[in-house]
Order: sequence, then C-alpha cells, then structure tokens
Amino acid sequence: MISHELIPNNVNLSSNKRLQRALEHWQPRYLDWWREMGPQGFQDYHRVYLRTAVSVDPDGWCHYDYVKMPEYRWGIFLTPPVKDRTIGFGDFFGQPVWQEVPGEFRNPLKRLIVLQGDTEPASVEQQRRLGQSCPSLYDLRNLFQVNVEEGRHLWAMVYLLHSYFGRDGRDEAEEMLERSSGNEDKPRMLEAFNEPIDTWLDFFMFAMFTDRDGKSQLMSLAESSLDPLSRTTRFMLTEEAHHLFVGESGVARIIQRTSELMRQTGLSGDVRRVGGIDLPLIQRHLNFWFSASVDLHGSEISTNAATYFANGLKGRAKEDSWEDHRALHGTYAVDVFENGVGLTRNVPARNAMNEMLRDWYIKDATAGVERWNRILERGGLSDRLYVPSRRFNRKIGIYADQHFTPEGRPISAEQWEARKHEWLPTANDKAYLKSLTTRPVFEVGQYANWIAPPSKGINRQPLDFEYVRTDE
Ligand SMILES: [Fe+2]
Ligand SMILES: [Fe+2]
Repeated sequence: MISHELIPNNVNLSSNKRLQRALEHWQPRYLDWWREMGPQGFQDYHRVYLRTAVSVDPDGWCHYDYVKMPEYRWGIFLTPPVKDRTIGFGDFFGQPVWQEVPGEFRNPLKRLIVLQGDTEPASVEQQRRLGQSCPSLYDLRNLFQVNVEEGRHLWAMVYLLHSYFGRDGRDEAEEMLERSSGNEDKPRMLEAFNEPIDTWLDFFMFAMFTDRDGKSQLMSLAESSLDPLSRTTRFMLTEEAHHLFVGESGVARIIQRTSELMRQTGLSGDVRRVGGIDLPLIQRHLNFWFSASVDLHGSEISTNAATYFANGLKGRAKEDSWEDHRALHGTYAVDVFENGVGLTRNVPARNAMNEMLRDWYIKDATAGVERWNRILERGGLSDRLYVPSRRFNRKIGIYADQHFTPEGRPISAEQWEARKHEWLPTANDKAYLKSLTTRPVFEVGQYANWIAPPSKGINRQPLDFEYVRTDE
C-alpha cells in the first residue's frame, strides 16, 4: 500500500483510485531500481541534508531535512492551472488547451514524454559511483540532491504516462526502469546519456551543459497544448535551476582554485605539480560536454520538429517572446556547410525549430562561460575559456559527417585524428582527474585541494555544516 503522506502531491492522489493502483505497482520497482542503479554505497547508513518538494507555493515549495535516500519522498507536482489558458502556437493557436490527449496525437505525445523521461534516471545511473570520490560533503550533498530530483522527474513523466496513456503508458513506465545507461542490449535512448560520468569535472560540466539542454527541452514542453504536460514541466524547471547552479558553480570553484594555484606557481608554471586542474584540461571537457549537448537539440532542419510545432505539441522556449506564433510563412537563417563552403540558408521557420532552440541554448551557455572568464580576469590571468563552434564534434545533424576545429574551420579526417587530443578529453586527462580523487573528502568543512570552497552554504547553512551524516 502506498501511504499518501509518503508521496507529496497536488494531483489529488488519494481520490484517484486508478492512478493509485498504477503507482502502487510501479513504486516498488522504482525503489528496486534506485537501490540497484542509484548512488552506490550511500543507501543505508547515510542521511543527506536534502530539499524535498512539498507544494507548489513559490514561497515555500520545499523543505530541508536529513533523509536516507531510499526514504526520499518523491512527489508529484504540477504548477497550478492558468485559468482559460489557450494554445500558444501552431495550427491550433488560440484554441483552449487540452486536458486529455487527443487521439490523433497520442503517439507523438507519448514519444516526447518517454524521451524526456528516459533522460532522468539515465543521469542517476551515469553518476552512481561519483560519491566515492567527492571533494567535500557539500558537493556530495549537491550530487545527491540532483540525483533524487532527477528521480522525481522520472516520477513526473511516469505520472503523465499512467494518467493519460492507459495500458501503453504503463508499459512505457516499466521500460523506463528496464533500459539503463551504457547497457549493450537496452541502452538509454539518447547518446549523451550512455556516457559514464566518472569524474567530478565531468559531473559539473554535465550539470552545466546537459542539464541546460534539459532546461531548453523543458521550456519548449512547458509551452505544450497538453496542459498537464505543460504544468508538470513548468514545475520541473524550478528544480532544474539548482542543477544548473551546481554545474556552473562547481566549475567556477575549480577555475577559482586553478587561478590561485597558477599565481602561486608563477603564471607559466604547471598547476598539475601542485595538484590543480589546468585550464587546457578544463577546456577539453567543456568542448566535449558542450558539443554532446548541442547534439541533443536534434537536426538543424527537421520535419519532425515542424510537425510537433504545427500540432502544438512542443513549442519554442519563451514562445511569448516570438511575434508570429504560427510560424507558417517566415524563414529562419540556418548556417549550413555544403561542398566545403559555409553558407546561410533560409529555411521555412517550422523546419528550423530545433535550430531556434539550439540558438537559445548556445546563447545561454555562452553567457555562463563568460561568467567563468570573469573569475580568470579577476585573478589577473590573461587565459580565457571559450565555447566551441556549433560545428565542432557533432554526431547529429548537418555537420555530423565532417570534421571541424573548435573555431569551426573544416579539416580532413586525418587532421582530425592527429589533433583531436588537443580538443577533447584524453586518457591522460581522465587518469589525472582520477588521481586527484583517490581519496574522498568526508571531513566536515574540508574541501579537496583542486576546488575552492563555495561562497555560501546550502539553505543558509555554514560551509562547515555536516551536509551528509553517517549512522554508526
Ligand atoms: Fe531532470
Ligand atoms: Fe536536471
């Protein structure tokens, strides 16, 4: 039996018998998955200072307390309905939004929800060994906060599948727990979610760049004509903001420490000698996670995206800020590369929806990298990080079969092979990062040498707060 107090919700779970039964069946399987595929070594004896979503009131939507992770109260929340909300884009612009799934869009809507849902448990799986090499209890807590909330995001998608897609939806919900990251037979659906995340720099970069793709996808689903999908994803964005903070501030603290060590060792000195993480290594990781996340936005020119838009299933980030919500006649300038020449093609706007979302993403990510550069500037260093060209290291879309430098210059396959170690993380980089974390830092208030302490604690707690406690 599910105890309803254990599933905080604002969907009237106690009066919805059908949904209750479906979740009663799913919840034990979810918990088995969490124990098996969730954070390794921190399930039974560790209590973590976590926030739990308990309502959708902007002033008090969560509370903080020590929780053993398998006892976390994964809840189901939708932002309150907007009265008389109408469809904001596409062919049905201006009509009332849908409270049920229209038969003709059942499959594509299910596909969008499953695709989003699949990424959530995937990232928990990718990160499940990281706790063993944490740089501090503060960081350990942040990792687990992100993990439990990705777990809740899976609940959010499973709630939609159970509530609106009947038997098929229940099957899809089961399969979410059967696929797993990197599994040969049943991998996760998207490539970036099958890469292991086994160093903290990768984790921070993932939270900075891949969670930001999560943000752009959620923003476009938040525009959906299917009102429950819109309201669910709007609430997920509240949590997503913290994931981006964890990523951006994590890398920022590494850069801060690197710049201190560079000054100590003399600017031309090797920071690895004093246990720091050098800027070229950071840049290679930035290049990798940025390009993998840019790929997640899909092909530049896409009839699928056009159909999603036409039917009102998936909009653009901040649809309100666009002038033409039907996008029926306009064109969008897309940079393409044909026969060795870069040129701009005007593509019918609806076919360029992925590229519009990617443009939003690149702008948002670039602003974050500029904030990192300010740390270097304040540290009196002339070195700067940069966002690589969108052409660089692509596996999906019009640049996929060609090779480009991070500046976007075309090069041959041979040149790529000869130089890619300059631009992407190497085995040596990984070995070095792992050598820094052979021993986790579990002492209260202590931080590993390669990362600066945060400027403030979580929920106004001090930096030497015991963010994770161990039971004897
Ligand atoms: Fe998520
Ligand atoms: Fe996230």
